[in-house]
Amino acid sequence: MNDSVATHEAIGFDFSALTGRERYKLLIGAVVPRPIALVTTVDRDGRVNAAPFSFFNCLSADPAILALGVEYRPDGRPKDTGRNVRETQQFTVNIVSHAMLEGMNACATPFEPEVDELAAAGFTLRPGVKVGCPAIAESPAAFECRHHVTLSIGSSRDIILGEVVHAHLHRSVVDAGNLHVDPVALDAIGRMGGHGYSTTRDLFDLPTLSVAQWRALQERSPA
Ligand SMILES: Cc1cc2nc3c(=O)[nH]c(=O)nc-3n(C[C@H](O)[C@H](O)[C@H](O)COP(=O)(O)O)c2cc1C
Repeated sequence: MNDSVATHEAIGFDFSALTGRERYKLLIGAVVPRPIALVTTVDRDGRVNAAPFSFFNCLSADPAILALGVEYRPDGRPKDTGRNVRETQQFTVNIVSHAMLEGMNACATPFEPEVDELAAAGFTLRPGVKVGCPAIAESPAAFECRHHVTLSIGSSRDIILGEVVHAHLHRSVVDAGNLHVDPVALDAIGRMGGHGYSTTRDLFDLPTLSVAQWRALQERSPA
């Protein structure tokens, strides 16, 4: 066995033999960093709700599809976000910047229904343009979504897909001419395992090479 094989020695885990909690620990610890959607919704009476979700990503640009993994509560009831999306068919994803960290965490606190989480978080609301739920004005990028489809993947959670119908980006974050989004100005945070978070402050570029460029590089410095 050469040194690199020894360093790459792996422990195998049969997922069918693991509990849900054990799978969760391996997945959220290793699939990192995950972007965080602070999702705003309204209920049937127009009351606004906000909650963070890191089982979240952009899955397609055309159509523009964002995905959320929303668990049910331990007693089997849906979370407010899941219930509101089902009832109103809309939601807004607010990207979480480092400056929004504490407010985002306040929105994850399981307050009683009568507590206004957004007021507790100190966030300001911006009215929706194409959906009835507001965006969070402090968020550098917010995406209004219409419910596309919900995938029922088990008894404990749903995967909700939404199609983006409108976006709000802070002027300081986007170049309205070429649509370049400045990652430094965005200053998004990510979710790690456990209670961990990461910043996006250590950035680098790595363009994908053409085959000719890759071969030229190999000739200059063979592996
Ligand atoms: C950073 C972060 C990420 C989270 N990600 C998820 C997630 O992906 N899915 C989920 O069901 N809950 C997730 N939660 C927990 C929910 O935010 C929490 O249950 C919240 O109270 C749900 O609120 P709601 O009932 O208003 O929808 C996360 C919490 C935090 C702090």
